[in-house]
Amino acid sequence: MMWQHFNPVRVFVGPGVRRRLGEFVERGPALLVTSPGMVRRGTAAEVTALCPKIDWTMRTVAPNPDLDALDSMAAELRDMGIRTVVALGGGSTLDSGKALAACLAGQTTLAACLREQVALPQTILPLICLPSTSGTGAEVTPFATIWDNAQGKKRSLAGDSLFPQMALLDPELTQSLPWTTTLYCGLDVVSHALESLWNKHCTPASAALADKALRLTLAALPALEHEPGSLVHRQNMQTASLLAGLVISQNRTALAHSMSYPFTLAFGVPHGLACSFTLDAIAERVSIAGLWVAGTDLNLVHDIRSMLAGFDLPSHMRRFCAPEQGVSLLPEMITAGRADNFVLDADEGLLQLILQKSL
Ligand SMILES: [Fe+2]
Repeated sequence: MMWQHFNPVRVFVGPGVRRRLGEFVERGPALLVTSPGMVRRGTAAEVTALCPKIDWTMRTVAPNPDLDALDSMAAELRDMGIRTVVALGGGSTLDSGKALAACLAGQTTLAACLREQVALPQTILPLICLPSTSGTGAEVTPFATIWDNAQGKKRSLAGDSLFPQMALLDPELTQSLPWTTTLYCGLDVVSHALESLWNKHCTPASAALADKALRLTLAALPALEHEPGSLVHRQNMQTASLLAGLVISQNRTALAHSMSYPFTLAFGVPHGLACSFTLDAIAERVSIAGLWVAGTDLNLVHDIRSMLAGFDLPSHMRRFCAPEQGVSLLPEMITAGRADNFVLDADEGLLQLILQKSL
């Protein structure tokens, strides 16, 4: 087997590491992309104060970033001479940071890149990520999920130029996350790791990273329900998210993610829940077919499936849609480039079976 591994993101990890930001923002004006919550809690102001000599501009973005809204934001910022982008927040914020760093590096728009297949710029503005959730791993991936609400589509910005320059992983930034957000983000980690272990493009490096991400999640995620302030569990979950992000930066995701996007688009199901409620049923099919990636620890898979069962994900899904509404989305769930990575043939019959067991 021939394989390769490439990830150029410089990563700093540890409690309080966000305070090193001042060492790394060299050129202004700088743009801080963040969420309204980070502004409200004062974290955004704390971060810009770490670089007092830099001229800052700040923009907030909503979850599931909209293509046209980001293009309007970039158009408004284009004449300000932004030279560095800092993204502080969850996966949607980091993805927005990538999109803006790409658009502001030249004259590119997301509409051109994603609707007309115009190439991304060869280089984007220097981007530093400070994740405030433990889930997407977006701080180490060359992808950004952008929602084209005008055309009713989920789109993926992808290319090596989208890798952030740096990620500062400070578990203190995740310490006050409520349980449901912690859970849904943690489920995204589980999905990224398992989607490697039933992925045609899995490599020995991504399999090893996935194994470690699952072990860390197993120890930390259920514990956080009762010990939400534990910095040890928060840091382990953040590390699991990082490792699973490194995994998908190499082999991308597979069937569970392919099936998830219509649920988010149609019913607003949070990404981590949408891409994980099918995991147990998919794991069962992969086990029956004996198609786990070589070396997968089946005891670990068993323990992860037990953990998922304990979270009762069908009841979480029913808060967003009824089972029959979910099944009606089936024709939109097979997206080439995701389902094509999957080790089984993702035909309608298989999807029916998975949905039946999952909703
Ligand atoms: Fe994901």
